[in-house]
Amino acid sequence: MREIDLRSDTVTLPTPAMREAMYRAVLGDDVFGEDPTVNRLEAMAAERMGKEAALFVVSGTMGNLTALLTHCQRGHEAIMGDKAHTFLFEAGGSAALGSIHPRTLPNQPDGTLCLEEIEAAIRPENPHHPRTRLVCLENTHNRCGGAVLTTEYTASVGELAHRHGLAVHLDGARVFNAAVALGVDVRDLTRPVDSVQFCLSKGLSAPVGSLLCGSQDFIVEARRWRKMLGGGMRQAGVLAAAGIEALDNMVDRLADDHANARRLAEGLANIPGFAVDLASVQTNIVIWDLTTEQVSPQEVVKRLGAKGVKVLTIGGRQFRAVTHYGIETSDIEETLAVARRVMEKLV
Ligand SMILES: Cc1ncc(COP(=O)(O)O)c(C=O)c1O
Repeated sequence: MREIDLRSDTVTLPTPAMREAMYRAVLGDDVFGEDPTVNRLEAMAAERMGKEAALFVVSGTMGNLTALLTHCQRGHEAIMGDKAHTFLFEAGGSAALGSIHPRTLPNQPDGTLCLEEIEAAIRPENPHHPRTRLVCLENTHNRCGGAVLTTEYTASVGELAHRHGLAVHLDGARVFNAAVALGVDVRDLTRPVDSVQFCLSKGLSAPVGSLLCGSQDFIVEARRWRKMLGGGMRQAGVLAAAGIEALDNMVDRLADDHANARRLAEGLANIPGFAVDLASVQTNIVIWDLTTEQVSPQEVVKRLGAKGVKVLTIGGRQFRAVTHYGIETSDIEETLAVARRVMEKLV
């Protein structure tokens, strides 16, 4: 039985071209700044994001943590969404390791934070208050179903934050999905922010790594934090080589993942016992609800899994599926056929 694994786009395996590039990569000691393949990837990433410099890090989590530690000092406050990956799913790293005070605002269903609420949350200078230093955005927004923040919205947050002397960090784990969905250059989404991290190991299918991008001075400081976090890798070019291949050849195909996600969402919406908010499906993530009380979401996941279709439950009565490289349109048809058969027996 062929397994159709829709749990996450992190399950993607490197392409044959990536494996070839990894094999052939020219290597050196990156902590000495001497790995030519890492240096090339960092230069490419900076150029793609329209920033002066970039830093290759182990993961999206390390990219975000390094960014927060670089922007903020002990006791500073960072404004972020209550559904932000940095708040929910990064083990509280910025608080635990950086003593950074998180100030959460409600994420709207479209992944945004209300501009008025951001402005109201900025603290006046007063010894009773932590100092507000940073606003964090996430594009696309994972827990909001892959929702896309627009160029206009991002520019408004940048303008507001800078007017108050704050910096903006973008968790752009899937920022290329956002750019492809909007049909814009990714720089239109990163220009208003001071730093951005994007992941190579999600829809772009590389095995490991993220890039943190920002000004030259910011990246010099971030490099020190990365070292402190134990993220100084040596012959990391063997990984960076896959990243270069990902940036060169895996961005445009994200449109296929978006088309497959839409097909999946429309099919699921027609299955009794499921409900999908089709308007929320903008990129490669589909979140949907179980509307019947006759069965638990865990039982549905178990039955789908027994028939070779893997999806996640994400709390409440919700499921998540993510399309990615390796998932073909025929897999979506197969997923829908399996889901229909499973639900027919349950409702
Ligand atoms: C929006 C977002 N940010 C950050 C991360 C963290 O990336 P990593 O798993 O590489 O640490 C993820 C991972 O799913 C994510 O979805």
